[in-house]
This record gives sequence, structure tokens and C-alpha cells, in this order.
Amino acid sequence: MSAVSDAPALAIRHLKKTFEEPAVDDLSLTIKSGEFYALLGPNGAGKTTTLRMVAGLLNADAGEIAICGIDTAKDPIAAKRVLAWVPDEPMIYDKLTPMEYLAFVAGLWSMDGEVARAKADQLIDVLGLSQKAHERCGGFSKGMRQKVALAGALIHEPKLIILDEPLTGLDAGSARQVKAVLRHLVSQGVTVIMTTHILEVAERMADRIGVIAKGRLLAEGTLEELRNTSGAHGATLEDIFLQLVEEQPDTAQGAPVDRHGAQLAGALA
Ligand SMILES: Nc1ncnc2c1ncn2[C@@H]1O[C@H](COP(=O)(O)OP(=O)(O)O)[C@@H](O)[C@H]1O
Ligand SMILES: [Mg+2]
Repeated sequence: MSAVSDAPALAIRHLKKTFEEPAVDDLSLTIKSGEFYALLGPNGAGKTTTLRMVAGLLNADAGEIAICGIDTAKDPIAAKRVLAWVPDEPMIYDKLTPMEYLAFVAGLWSMDGEVARAKADQLIDVLGLSQKAHERCGGFSKGMRQKVALAGALIHEPKLIILDEPLTGLDAGSARQVKAVLRHLVSQGVTVIMTTHILEVAERMADRIGVIAKGRLLAEGTLEELRNTSGAHGATLEDIFLQLVEEQPDTAQGAPVDRHGAQLAGALA
């Protein structure tokens, strides 16, 4: 089955996953094609679990996921073809150079050698990897590794890119390059979904923001829409986020809200 062009980039319906406790609890989300969507939530909210199910790395207990109209349970290979998944701790091969790694990934996708080479050159260039293109990845910093992983995820020109905390641990220069690449992709009609705990990034970059806690969607919309629902005009995303999370029943049993507040304030400082 091929991708349906007017279908949402991602449609999640009544998704559930329980480990010892529910991690994802009847979550439904629709992300339109071409959107830049930020998924926000405190630690343990179920962000990574949700995205791992979308990427086909974890089986859901219940619910449906469709990527560009392709049901991931019915046609997982077609779904993976239009998707790129960039985990928070990317796995790359220490013995390979960035160029070799990209050639290897392109081979997995059976890409034409010349097309792959041109795409690899372009990605290496925009991600500022040119000087290290022929050095083994083994000694690279976290930021460099993240950029090599991102290049690998983008080589087959996916329609939907999902990144889990892509800016965590990156130095300012690498973070800027990654943000520029993501913005460029969105300008080309690619859909980007990223989780972040850095509210400022969501506020500045995302078209729409979803706030989840305890595996449930608490609120969703543009920053303006979130402000309107919270009734707090002029509120920052931090104000809205903390208000939403504090309104959750029995938050005291999970990670304490005021500690998250302190963490988030720290991240913004
Ligand atoms: N493989 C696993 N086994 C057991 N519990 C898990 C596993 N993965 C996640 N969890 C639990 O599920 C909840 C959601 O985790 P996660 O999706 O990683 O949250 P987030 O990415 O929002 O920080 C947490 O309580 C976490 O401890
Ligand atoms: Mg996570």
C-alpha cells in the first residue's frame, strides 16, 4: 500500500501500553502533513513509549497507528519507509566514518549509489560534519553522534521525522544546526514531531504543541490556542504547562510537580 497524500502524517487512536502501570493511556493524536509538532510532558509522561510504538519498536496493548494513511500493524514495512526515527541515544557504528555510515544506511534502503552519495554530501554539509566526514565515529561527541544519526535518518527522504529529545546534550552550535535542518525540512513539506522538555524550543519552533502527562493528552494546540484554553492571556508556555500538570489528580504520587517546575525553570535559565 502506498502513502495516501491527503492523510494525516500521523494518526494515533486510543493507544494503550501498560508496564507495571499504564504508560500510555488511551492516547489519541492527529498530526497534519507538514506540521512541526512538539510533544511536551514531564519525565515519565509516556512520550518515548508512544513514539517507540509509532516507530514499530514496541507493540501496543491496544489502539491504532497510521503513518501517512498506512496502518502500522497491517503494513509495517510501508509505514517504516516513510518514517524516520531518531532516538535520544542514537546507535551509530563507531568503526565507520559518517560517510561510510550513510552509505551503509542508503544500502539498507536499496538507494541508487549516486543519489545516495549526493544526498549524503548535502546532509554532511548542512549538519556541519564536513571536517569529520572521513573520521571514525568512535571518538565523536554526543552532538556529533546525534547529527550523524540524524543524517542517517534523513537519507531516504522520509515524509515524517520523529525525534526524541533531539537537542538534549547538544552544544549551542550543534543545536542551532539541528534546528535549522528541521525548519528547512518543514519548509519542504516534511512533517516533524519532536519531544522536548525545553519549553522554549517548543514555544519558538512548533506549529502545534501537545502536552501529555501519565500517558494522557492534557491539551493540544498552537501556543495561542493553549493560552485561550488556559484562560491566561499573555501566559508563557511554562505557565500553561505547569498549570496543566498541576491540575492533574494525584500528581503528588508521581514525580512532584514543583520539582518539575524547578527543572523546567532550570532548563530555561
Ligand atoms: N521498557 C519498560 N519497562 C518498564 N517500564 C517502562 C519501560 N519503558 C517505559 N517505562 C515506564 O513507562 C512510563 C513512561 O516512560 P517514558 O515513555 O519513557 O516517558 P517519557 O519519555 O515521557 O519520559 C515511565 O513510568 C517508565 O518508567
Ligand atoms: Mg523519554
